[in-house]
Amino acid sequence: MGKERFLVTSALPYANGDLHVGHIAGAYLPGDIFVKYLRLKGEDVLYFCGTDEHGAPISIKAEAEGKTPQQIVDFYHQRMVEDFEGLGIEFNNFSGTARPPHHKLSQEFFLNLLKKGYISTQVSEQYYCPKCERFLADRYVEGVCPHCGKSGARGDQCDACGKLMDSTGLVQPECKICGTTPEVRSTTHWMLDLPAFVPRLKEWLSSKSNWKENIMKFIMGLVDEGLKKRAVTRDIDWGVPVPLEDAEGKVLYVWFDAPIGYVSSSVEYFGKTDNPDGWRDYWLNPQTKLVHFIGKDNNIFHAIFWPAMLMGQDDNYVLPHDIPANEFLNLEGDKLSTSKNWAIWIKDFLAEFDGELLRYYVARIAPEHKDSDFVWKDFQAKVNGELANILGNLANRVFSFGNKFFEGQICKSSELDDKATSVLQEAYALVGEMDENYQNYKVKRNAELGMNLARLGNKYFDETAPWKSVKTDKAQAEQSLYVCCELLRIFSVVYSPILPRACKRLANMLGIESEVTWQHAGSSQDKYVFSGVEPLFPKIEDDKIQAQIDKLKKSCQQEVENADNIPAIKKAISFDKFQEMDLRMGKILECEVVPKSKKLLKLTIDLGTEKRQIFSGISKYYVPSQLLGKSVVILANLEARKIMGMDSQGMILAVEGADGNLSLLFADKNISAGSIIS
Ligand code: 2FM
Ligand code: ZN
Repeated sequence: MGKERFLVTSALPYANGDLHVGHIAGAYLPGDIFVKYLRLKGEDVLYFCGTDEHGAPISIKAEAEGKTPQQIVDFYHQRMVEDFEGLGIEFNNFSGTARPPHHKLSQEFFLNLLKKGYISTQVSEQYYCPKCERFLADRYVEGVCPHCGKSGARGDQCDACGKLMDSTGLVQPECKICGTTPEVRSTTHWMLDLPAFVPRLKEWLSSKSNWKENIMKFIMGLVDEGLKKRAVTRDIDWGVPVPLEDAEGKVLYVWFDAPIGYVSSSVEYFGKTDNPDGWRDYWLNPQTKLVHFIGKDNNIFHAIFWPAMLMGQDDNYVLPHDIPANEFLNLEGDKLSTSKNWAIWIKDFLAEFDGELLRYYVARIAPEHKDSDFVWKDFQAKVNGELANILGNLANRVFSFGNKFFEGQICKSSELDDKATSVLQEAYALVGEMDENYQNYKVKRNAELGMNLARLGNKYFDETAPWKSVKTDKAQAEQSLYVCCELLRIFSVVYSPILPRACKRLANMLGIESEVTWQHAGSSQDKYVFSGVEPLFPKIEDDKIQAQIDKLKKSCQQEVENADNIPAIKKAISFDKFQEMDLRMGKILECEVVPKSKKLLKLTIDLGTEKRQIFSGISKYYVPSQLLGKSVVILANLEARKIMGMDSQGMILAVEGADGNLSLLFADKNISAGSIIS
């Protein structure tokens, strides 16, 4: 069988924070398992990653902490190296995009596209925050998505509907750093001509019958709708400088240079070998299978933007063969949120548990087709009930029994009986199934299936009862143990992509020291000599899990406490005093934005008996069309006040949430205009 050549990558993590379980479930564990499987199969595979070290968040964080961006990225890069090591995730190289060779290569990519006419300048409008005195990078402006109407859309993309945004297309934009409504200013940018790539993208995408159907539909839909030119430069000072004289102060867009990091990481790797040009044999080789592991939010960039960048190079780069994108991992029923500290940080996990346990659990619940949920008690149940009680139990029985009655040496009898043969046949069938699953990134299924090898062993051990036969027919008892050793050995091969360290320990206990390959899982071994037997997986006690749950809840609660600076209740007033206020429901008849005002909406309110004109500072939170026809709470007897020279006759009541978002108060039944609130 000829070797296949694979280039595997996992999304470059931003070097502005630590890794958490969501990252691991999305792009790193699935990539690492795939690579370990390919290595076991003897394929020619290289696995690259590195930190994504550019982009506005890093410079803003550096500014806030009084450090240089380089210090920030160096710090997190090193921490990630440790986290990956703790989890047994092994890249051939883990580079970083602030390194000079990466800058050089990214500039070459840019200049190549420019030379071929795929990049041209355009004066464009962009959000500029007058208070922060900077152009706002996409993630620093938030507003309502013009496509789906949901709030919280970023300048570049809406997470709710997944659509990409025009640079100033948000409704009610807001500077995320200071809350100011940004201005739109013009600036020159270099635009990648994505429309020019549409025919080639379509042709390439239609050859991808191996992709997940939902992703293909989504991507094809976008390409069919028609692509727009996208700016590949930004007005910030941290990033890869645009290599043109008339582009001073501009850098390449972080999503332009980040995927080039896959290539520069490969170049760096080969640079340390005696074959510095070796990377070309992978990247410029049409036989190479290029597989990008990413989280689903990175789809568009890997399936449209990056392939177009590759297509527009002088060299014939290989295009992605597959882009296995996982869905999201939630935590205890809620969306992971790093800002709310609703996350499990890898560092914290590794301080308490063996990294293999995280690999096991995340593989068992991998969010391959839908979002999944990390639940601490379920984690404990799976570790104790499966790793300890099923796998650990089999290992423990075999090793202790074998040591006690056979001095730790188990040999195959000349002829296995039918039952033993059929158990092993069943195991080989599982091996075949797992082989295919690994090729198709079905990690979750394999995490379940592999455990069946141990279940099979326990059942067989119970049924053949060697503790009885050892007294009457020692050969029979040895056969029972031999079959179980075979099952444990097969497990240690086929499960090693998921649990590399535990499988190595298990193999060593079975006396296997040499490197194994996948082929070993389908063949037999005649003799086992136990060595250094120790428990595989201790159980996790309840209090250890409870401590994790408490910690999670506490850190999140602290957030809430910090967020709610709820003032104390005011001094008591009499009922009469309360009755002095005339609160009524008013129906919004008209609503318009007040020109030249950043905050105000002008509303005409029906109070049943009369119409009122009221100004309200809510334009950041509502567009007029959202309010027409709604009934809201009005303080009707507030003295008229002049607002921007005009009378405001009353006040609309609103409440401010902990996140600073303002919400009007609506009645939850149909109430006629003018109804009294008491
Ligand atoms: O979403 C992210 O975390 C990005 N840093 C992923 C980049 S992937 C690739 F293009 F480098
Ligand atoms: Zn601002």
